[in-house]
Amino acid sequence: MNTLLFHCRPGFEGEVCAEVSSLAARLDVSGYARGKPDSAYAEFICQTAEEAQRFMAKVRFDDLIFPRQWARGMHLALPETDRVGVLVEALEACPPVGSVWLEVFDTNDGKALSNFCKKFERPLTTALKKTGRLVDDSRAPRLLLTFKSGREVFIGIADPDNAARWPMGVPRLKFPRRAPSRSTLKLEEAWHHFIPRDQWDQRLAPDMRAVDLGASPGGWTWQLVNREMRVMAIDNGPMDVDLMDSGLVEHYRADGFSFRPRQAVDWMVCDIVEKPARNAALLETWIGEGLCREAIVNLKLPMKQRYAEVERLLQRIRDGLKSRNVKGSLACKQLYHDREEVTCHLRRL
Ligand SMILES: C[S@@+](CC[C@H](N)C(=O)[O-])C[C@H]1O[C@@H](n2cnc3c(N)ncnc32)[C@H](O)[C@@H]1O
Repeated sequence: MNTLLFHCRPGFEGEVCAEVSSLAARLDVSGYARGKPDSAYAEFICQTAEEAQRFMAKVRFDDLIFPRQWARGMHLALPETDRVGVLVEALEACPPVGSVWLEVFDTNDGKALSNFCKKFERPLTTALKKTGRLVDDSRAPRLLLTFKSGREVFIGIADPDNAARWPMGVPRLKFPRRAPSRSTLKLEEAWHHFIPRDQWDQRLAPDMRAVDLGASPGGWTWQLVNREMRVMAIDNGPMDVDLMDSGLVEHYRADGFSFRPRQAVDWMVCDIVEKPARNAALLETWIGEGLCREAIVNLKLPMKQRYAEVERLLQRIRDGLKSRNVKGSLACKQLYHDREEVTCHLRRL
């Protein structure tokens, strides 16, 4: 059980290796990272099982930028028949678990395995319950079985309160029929990720005022309007007509980098595709100058050294706030709906 497994967006295995190696060094966890390009996962092989456990106990999953899911455990080869029996036997050494998720990687091979997982789930959970390996305890560890094929599985466990909220870290969000663009789901996912559900009524409340920089055609504005906020939408491009008919949106054809609201607002969101340093500076300025209380900004990633660049920009934001004597809580994640980008959330405290 000395292997840490991390799911990620295909193509970002190197970023996971860099991020996890840097954390392991800080935590004095010895081992090495490996990740095959486009496999949609990376691993960190710790020297001991105790170190793998320590890593997961010391790191908050939500603080990881590139991993979508994680677990500690080991690989297991499965036979052609009686896979359930072999799995149950292998799990005898593990503590009882409170839930079981069957997962696959975000690749075509993974997708092809989804049906197999669906069929396998019922007999497996029945057997685990019968043998006392699956118990009715929501605080017990979660068993994460990641199938690489029908013959190979990673048996992992994670604390259900310190792991992805959705299997494989893929949120089940339905595209709202009336939203003007698919990017609407990016903002919805960001809220799920950065704002605890029981705080939505307070922090995403009706009549709050929001600014959407780079708003056209209005996917993000649609989400704000859906929460009954009043929105200033900044973009030279056109806004969706139905959205404007809501009466909650004012459209300004202006430059998002120089626009400033006359009065401070509750929210600023920005989906402008620009150099990441420029968007990061915008985020720091809006919170630092008190122009808004919370902000969500996309950072487009460079071609190389993507983890190092994101860390550098996050540090620049922290330094900026510190020099203004402003306290803020900063988080950053590559969301499922993000492509070559990460999403940052900053809240003034
Ligand atoms: C990715 S799109 C935004 C999509 C939008 N969030 C949605 O959900 O429909 C980026 C937008 O930023 C706008 N944009 C680019 N540079 C800008 C600037 N300097 N100021 C304001 N808008 C800008 C573009 O016109 C484009 O509409």
